[in-house]
Amino acid sequence: MRTRLSLFLLLSLLLFLSSCAVVLSWKKEEFRNCNQTPFCKRARSRKPGSSPFLAADVSISDGDLVAKLVPREPDPDQEDQEPPARPLALTLSAYRDGVMRVKIDEDYPPQESPHKRRFQVPDVIVSEFESKKLWLQRVSTERVGGDEGVSSIVYLSDEYEGVVRHDPFEVYVRERSSGDRVLSMNSHGLFDFEQLREKKEGEDWEERFRSHTDTRPYGPQSISFDVSFYGADFVYGIPERAASLALKPTRGPGIDHSEPYRLFNLDVFEYLHDSPFGLYGAIPFMISHGKARGTSGFFWLNAAEMQIDVLGEGWDADSGISLPSSQKRVDTFWMSEAGIVDAFFFIGPGPKDVVKQYVGVTGNPAMPQLFATAYHQCRWNYRDEEDVENVDAKFDEHDIPYDVLWLDIEHTDGKRYFTWDKVLFPHPEEMQRKLAAKGRHMVTIVDPHIKRDESYHIHKEASKNGYYVKDASGNDFEGWCWPGSSSYIDMLSPEIRSWWADKFSFENYVGSTPSLYIWNDMNEPSVFNGPELTMPRDALHYGGVEHRELHNANGYYFHMATSDGLLKRGNGNDRPFVLSRAFFPGSQRYGAVWTGDNTAEWDQLRVSVPMILTLGLTGLSFSGADVGGFFGNPEPELLVRWYQLGAYYPFFRAHAHQDTKRREPWLFGERNTELMRDAIRTRYMLLPFFYTLFREANVTGVPVVRPLWMEFPFDEATFDKDEAFMVGNSLLVQGIFTERAKHVSVYLPGKESWYDLRTGTAYLGSKTHKLEAPEDHVPAFQRAGTIIPRRDRFRRSTTQTVNDPYTLVIALNSSQTAEGELYIDDGKSFEFKHGAYIHRRFVFKGGKLTSLNMAPATSGNLPFKSECIIERIIILGHAGGPKNALIEPGNLKAQVEFGPLLLQGRSSSGVLTIRKPGIRIADDWTIKVL
Ligand SMILES: *[C@@H]1O[C@H](CO)[C@@H](O)[C@H](O)[C@H]1NC(C)=O
Ligand SMILES: *[C@@H]1O[C@H](CO)[C@@H](O)[C@H](O)[C@H]1NC(C)=O
Repeated sequence: MRTRLSLFLLLSLLLFLSSCAVVLSWKKEEFRNCNQTPFCKRARSRKPGSSPFLAADVSISDGDLVAKLVPREPDPDQEDQEPPARPLALTLSAYRDGVMRVKIDEDYPPQESPHKRRFQVPDVIVSEFESKKLWLQRVSTERVGGDEGVSSIVYLSDEYEGVVRHDPFEVYVRERSSGDRVLSMNSHGLFDFEQLREKKEGEDWEERFRSHTDTRPYGPQSISFDVSFYGADFVYGIPERAASLALKPTRGPGIDHSEPYRLFNLDVFEYLHDSPFGLYGAIPFMISHGKARGTSGFFWLNAAEMQIDVLGEGWDADSGISLPSSQKRVDTFWMSEAGIVDAFFFIGPGPKDVVKQYVGVTGNPAMPQLFATAYHQCRWNYRDEEDVENVDAKFDEHDIPYDVLWLDIEHTDGKRYFTWDKVLFPHPEEMQRKLAAKGRHMVTIVDPHIKRDESYHIHKEASKNGYYVKDASGNDFEGWCWPGSSSYIDMLSPEIRSWWADKFSFENYVGSTPSLYIWNDMNEPSVFNGPELTMPRDALHYGGVEHRELHNANGYYFHMATSDGLLKRGNGNDRPFVLSRAFFPGSQRYGAVWTGDNTAEWDQLRVSVPMILTLGLTGLSFSGADVGGFFGNPEPELLVRWYQLGAYYPFFRAHAHQDTKRREPWLFGERNTELMRDAIRTRYMLLPFFYTLFREANVTGVPVVRPLWMEFPFDEATFDKDEAFMVGNSLLVQGIFTERAKHVSVYLPGKESWYDLRTGTAYLGSKTHKLEAPEDHVPAFQRAGTIIPRRDRFRRSTTQTVNDPYTLVIALNSSQTAEGELYIDDGKSFEFKHGAYIHRRFVFKGGKLTSLNMAPATSGNLPFKSECIIERIIILGHAGGPKNALIEPGNLKAQVEFGPLLLQGRSSSGVLTIRKPGIRIADDWTIKVL
């Protein structure tokens, strides 16, 4: 979330503040590139077809296909090539719903116990996944050409099968009927697996980078292979980086000196807005999409440093390898420093199918509390209790709703987390209670670096119990972070995680109250004096696991332990809220993430959209970027535009660096206050819609905000668009990313119309519209055929809206039809898991609006009750001119009007409004417009 306080940094900060041009203070030389990373350099120099393995001894065992990958006899012409000494073990498993899993590890002989086993990441795959396993019964053989053409084939589903070609070794998924391929591994013969071995005389395994030495006691152990996506036009995914949504090729004809996409969680100071460089989190999950085939996905569960090339067309022109398929495809190349191959092939065939398949493995996103989906106010730092009180009061004074006030590191006693600065925050409980009285919440920061101070209880216990990560020589690892000399809790251990979780009880976290939630920052982990500002790779975790093997999951375990802490405290019936900067597959189960330390620049506003879309595609639905930009001082116009766009981020928080000027929404004159108030109110108005989408994400994994192609998978014009996005299936939002923009171009996909969210004006689909750039909002359009629920009364915070009435906005399509949903629960507890919720489906068809119950019949045992009514129904695009509405049951009449106010004083024509129909949200009813 911020800079390091080294002299170094202060210097570059000064430099930055004094330059008005684009910031270039990203410290490139502090980070390794591929050439400085031996495993990456070695892998990238490998030639297609050089893979030494062939598959042998194929059979079925315990419902899986198993085989040995046997090294080929060494090629006498290539003396320098070291053939792997031992065979590898391959296991291929099939799962329901279109998932194939391939594991490749060393083939440990049962009699020997090796001194070191390769690391398999625990606690990521959800237990439900194993219950979906298909018990493979038999494997059939296919022979194309001579003996070399032998393949083993297993059943995946009625449409798909998995194929292992023996020599050369290759694995792929294909369609049974057409034989068309979907996804393949090692089709270009780049698979390589460096096995653990004894060090040879005179061999040097150490690696040096800048002033750091990595002892690498186990030597080279990297893995690499190629993966091809068939029928694909583009690939997406593999966060986190500030880059376009559709991933550009990094190797191939005409691409010089591009780095591969890096997945290595780092605290990157002032990141650039268009770079393959990896940031705070890593999800090794790639999705392809194309007109010819649809969507497929590939996920490699591995927590070591990874580098991925997207190979440009023609990269393999002189390799002599031609794939037996004329399908268009995208080739990629995956490299990891350690671990095993644990790869998941997701068959799709639609974008939502792939996301569902992925969360079927790594878990569904948690359902947040309602308050967490509203607006958050943060800054490094709200100084003291008086500051908190003033900021809180100003929101009310300016009629701006907000739900959460955040405290950054300065609230603690000397960066000792779980403590309060006694002078600045002498009455933390009272402070929280005052906020809670207005229905507001507080979030405090708890970071993973623990101050080495004998009088600090966390440190005392952790050092006594041996809970810290160890350095290569077995002592507690010490690094430099905010509190000075620090050690780091080893969250890989379940016992240590449980100890940590207990620290969040109200007794242990003195000064915390039930309205307090948590922010985990710096959990990559950030180590100011470490190599690349993180922990040395030869540091040791629980069970002798090297840090290099689990680095990318480090923050994940910390997030997990913190979230478990909030679950444990109190009565255990309060959904946790924990924001994390670092993430890994599965983080979606533990809370929200944000895009880290961005900068107050227009380009960074722009890149926030592909960053958030990518996170959503890879399971992390609840994400956002710091509104306003963390570093630097945004011009009021940029700040306003950021609020206007940020109001549609799933996670909506303003945040700012300590050295920036104060920028609460009322500090820039009346007009700007009004504009920011409008933006925040738009979010509050749409909260019923957002909350319904959070529930959809919770149940299906389909993200709250989506790339256009997820909703319009056949509209090619959308495939590489990342300046606009969908909120659910109903709303298209177009950002404005330039100063003093006069116009804005918006591409509206699909054949049906779109309605301006504010004016109700209709626009045609499949068309780019050049519109005047409005000052008071960013363009947003409701898709014809949808119904959006909203709440139009403005309150101080969400807690105060629970009894407020709803408005339904019905946008009819050319068949005079529309559908939508509304999900409501208590916004707080876990009772929704036992059916305590209301879930309605609204269908407008044949001139009649019907409200249907979507909750399963079992929901009777723990009902959630709501007396809320619908106060207004707005119908856009109605062909007739009806005068009356007839409500059943009851045979009641309601008034129908034209030309309503949609939002904030703008009127429009040709719109029907049914006022005060007097129906309850919880009931079944119909309204016929006559
Ligand atoms: C939804 O969220 C809850 C609470 O976070 C979680 O326990 C559950 O597993 C999630 N998924 C589903 C399908 O309910
Ligand atoms: C109109 O909307 C309904 C509901 O979303 C949908 O089922 C139908 O296919 C749409 N009709 C057209 C012509 O797009």
